Amino acid sequence: MTTKPPVRVAVTGAAGNIGYALLFRIASGEMLGKDQPVILQMLEIPTEGAQKALKGVAMELDDCAFPLLADMVLTDDPKVAFKDANWSLLVGSKPRGPGMERADLLKDNGKIFIAQGKAIDEVAADDARVAVVGNPCNTNVMIAASQAKRLSPDRFTAMVRLDENRGRAQLAKKAGVSINDVSDLYIYGNHSPTMFADFTHAKIGGKAAADVIGDEAWLKNDYLPTVGKRGAAIIEARGQSSAASAANALIDHVRDLVTPGKIHSVAVNSEGRYGFAEGVWAGMPVKTTAPGAYEVVTSYEMDEFAKSKIALTNDELVGERDTVKDMLG
Ligand code: NAD
Ligand code: LMR
Repeated sequence: MTTKPPVRVAVTGAAGNIGYALLFRIASGEMLGKDQPVILQMLEIPTEGAQKALKGVAMELDDCAFPLLADMVLTDDPKVAFKDANWSLLVGSKPRGPGMERADLLKDNGKIFIAQGKAIDEVAADDARVAVVGNPCNTNVMIAASQAKRLSPDRFTAMVRLDENRGRAQLAKKAGVSINDVSDLYIYGNHSPTMFADFTHAKIGGKAAADVIGDEAWLKNDYLPTVGKRGAAIIEARGQSSAASAANALIDHVRDLVTPGKIHSVAVNSEGRYGFAEGVWAGMPVKTTAPGAYEVVTSYEMDEFAKSKIALTNDELVGERDTVKDMLG
């Protein structure tokens, strides 16, 4: 039996597709550790259907008899959901359908993050950490962070880990090696087709990935678009946006942010690093320094090709920021 006090994890959109793939893994200890009790604070919209579905999810969580699940809160009130939360996982928002870009969701989804950013700042724990998944996640996290007066911008991150995982998987497939042989692949910029999956520094079996693959044209013209447009390819194939792989990536995102020494891709306040505009949230490699704390790895030298890719994804982030300027606190 563990004696650790429980960690409060707020999850928005808890009755949605990602929520269903996520909550059981958090409650089983895959995110925060097999000796770490959790309290799940689950938020859904105030419709009868969503609240009923949320109850059903909670019934199933009960039925798993998870030893680490110390308590559950079910609510339609953000201030209840985020009360004393140590982690707030902001999933709840509209997913895109076929033919849409994630940025098309901005006007609908952006406003959710105004209210939630304010509520988190007001009621969450002093050590509050926030991870945004709802799309377009880089800009939504910027909106949420801009509402905060108490919590500093570094507490607010968005998820590009699904892109890192996709990028590693595609390299492993092409090279015919195990996923475990692919390392040092980090995602720069927006969680959108403009993202730059930096194959120039990636390694396969400890050697430069570009040398192992030996096909620069494939890396530039096939690999990058495949990774960048993977979300759309999943929607096309499944009729719905990725859910299990997104939940899995969020587990990876948080677990690696509480595991000192891990280097992984996270969208953070750029502070002008790697040529990104000040104040946009851009994917880049971070190293976890203490549970919940990180520093950006700034040592990668970018060649002209990488710089041009980063400039493109930066332009898009700046454009999204212009679109939501009225939503920034
Ligand atoms: P979904 O429609 O299945 O579920 C979303 C849930 O959020 C619904 O149950 C809805 O009622 C709820 N919701 C909506 N507004 C809310 C609010 N204001 N507060 C609380 N709950 C709210 O969608 P999904 O497949 O779970 O996807 C959720 C989001 O995650 C989408 O925006 C999707 O595009 C995004 N996504 C991001 C990534 C990524 O890598 N960053 C990956 C996959 C999906
Ligand atoms: C993904 O990358 O799978 C998600 O962001 C969903 C989407 O709209 O692509």
